[in-house]
Amino acid sequence: MSPTVVTLSCVNLKGGVGKTALAVNFAAYCGTSGRPTLLIDLDPQTNATFSCIDVDEWERHAARHGTVADLLGARDHASAEGKQRSVESIIRRNVFENVDLIPSHLDLFTIDLDLASATAREFKLRRAIKPIENDYEIIVCDCPPNLTIPTQNALAASTHYVVPVSPDYLSGLGIGLLLTRVNKFCGDLEHELENAGIVISRVGRRALHREMTVAAIRERFKDLVLTHTISERVKVSESAAANRPIFDMGDSKASEEFTEISEEILERIGV
Ligand SMILES: Nc1ncnc2c1ncn2[C@@H]1O[C@H](COP(=O)(O)OP(=O)(O)O)[C@@H](O)[C@H]1O
Ligand SMILES: [Mg+2]
Repeated sequence: MSPTVVTLSCVNLKGGVGKTALAVNFAAYCGTSGRPTLLIDLDPQTNATFSCIDVDEWERHAARHGTVADLLGARDHASAEGKQRSVESIIRRNVFENVDLIPSHLDLFTIDLDLASATAREFKLRRAIKPIENDYEIIVCDCPPNLTIPTQNALAASTHYVVPVSPDYLSGLGIGLLLTRVNKFCGDLEHELENAGIVISRVGRRALHREMTVAAIRERFKDLVLTHTISERVKVSESAAANRPIFDMGDSKASEEFTEISEEILERIGV
């Protein structure tokens, strides 16, 4: 029997909390530790994509081979005969060691309108990746900061999700709402999805309000909150701009933090 792939979505209603940095570097960690990994970028802002490949490479790949917009059935992304591109051709191989990428496309911004009357529109991704999912040990989905169709497709294709949060008052407020919404969505679809935890990310210099926010999040969500945290470090943004994982950037502290958080996530998702 083929092993069951674990699929992890990075979700939060808020932007700028470190979802993409975690998705990309967790995928990179899984790859370097010998696990065949697929990273799927579901955000029309294409940040995970551009953390792995440059714009020219993306343009060529999108034109020749397609993107996640084809898989979800965005308008103008199917051929005249209505034929979809195959998932195999859309995958960009080896963006990092043992990491393949399904790139995103700006056209996902209007996917909710394009699929307004489509049946089973939450399951487009799950169906599309079925033929290749057993090629991987781990699939990581990077989501946009909302719960619209792309995120819904990621959740419906996932076994687990993590919620990166930055330690500020407003970020803390949205966590409860997000968890409730995700539970309701999965209940409606009768889809089992496990919360692998809340990751406190982009922790800046010591400040009383930050410490109070982190303490309040830990008090409220208890064991759901991962022990390790990720600090704010310049090399994290630089690694995205260099299309490299944080582990290649010569910042041992940052590498250590992403290693620890990745190990903790792997333990929680049973890999
Ligand atoms: N730990 C970090 N230290 C420094 N910069 C970070 C860190 N995590 C993310 N960033 C940067 O902050 C911005 C937002 O992070 P990102 O991961 O894209 O958030 P999200 O996906 O939640 O919108 C990006 O420019 C990213 O490079
Ligand atoms: Mg992002």
